[in-house]
Amino acid sequence: MKKYFVIGNPINHSLSPKLHNYWLEQNNINAVYEKIKLEENEIENFILKIKDQKINGCNVTVPFKKSVIPFLDKLSPEAEQTQSVNTICFHNGDLVGHNTDVGGFQKALNKLDYKVKDKKILILGAGGVVPSIIFALNKMEVSEITVSNRTYKKAENLKSQFNKINIIKWGEITEFDIIINATSLGLNNETIDLNISNIGDNKLFYDVIYNPDETNFLKDGKKLGNQTENGKFMFIYQAFEAFKLWHDLEPSVNKQILNLLNND
Ligand code: ATR
Repeated sequence: MKKYFVIGNPINHSLSPKLHNYWLEQNNINAVYEKIKLEENEIENFILKIKDQKINGCNVTVPFKKSVIPFLDKLSPEAEQTQSVNTICFHNGDLVGHNTDVGGFQKALNKLDYKVKDKKILILGAGGVVPSIIFALNKMEVSEITVSNRTYKKAENLKSQFNKINIIKWGEITEFDIIINATSLGLNNETIDLNISNIGDNKLFYDVIYNPDETNFLKDGKKLGNQTENGKFMFIYQAFEAFKLWHDLEPSVNKQILNLLNND
């Protein structure tokens, strides 16, 4: 039986096993997917087990998406550019790091009835997932990306990877079509202190958070008459892309999948 894992710390909250095990069963694949909490100094040994084919692949979540990179042989272009790996495969004798958060975000936005090309984007936050979001938005040919983060320096550091982005101070606002919450604010019912009362309508409010289903950020966007979307499909599609890489087939994304995640 093949074995797959998601590694991270903490890892208890991860819904990846639910999703992958459902798809494995549905496709009659003789494999199992589990979560495992690791410490930083255990990563190398764990990854060697993939090279030895004792484990067949893994997903990587916070806080190890960057720290796994030195132990890999190759990176996909997305993983290279974002310096973020969330999926590891063994391919032709090499350990290959992929970043399916990029494709996951892109697929999630494509699914919406909202044209992204040539739009102005404001991203709140500069944490681990933001390089993947910026990379995807550039692929989707947006016209402008502005980043605002509580710690200004961290937003500024993104310029070494993505030199065209603009940076504004935390609490400031700029003209946008799409605003993305990529901070952890909202996980515990927090509000984000931004003056958005004059932004107009026809905007898209996107929150990377999907639990709770609707953060205060999304509630505020909706109240002003804007379209809103949470991060559930980004999560589902990053898993979809990883599944495709490991098993060479496309799992179904349907109502049952959504129920599976809602029932948690
Ligand atoms: P990491 O920064 O370690 O990658 P993350 O969960 O990916 O962790 O990112 C958390 C994001 O939420 C960061 O942008 C963080 O801002 P800082 O860089 O200033 O830490 C943001 N964040 C978390 N708590 C916040 C708060 N109370 N107010 C504003 N931003 C907050």
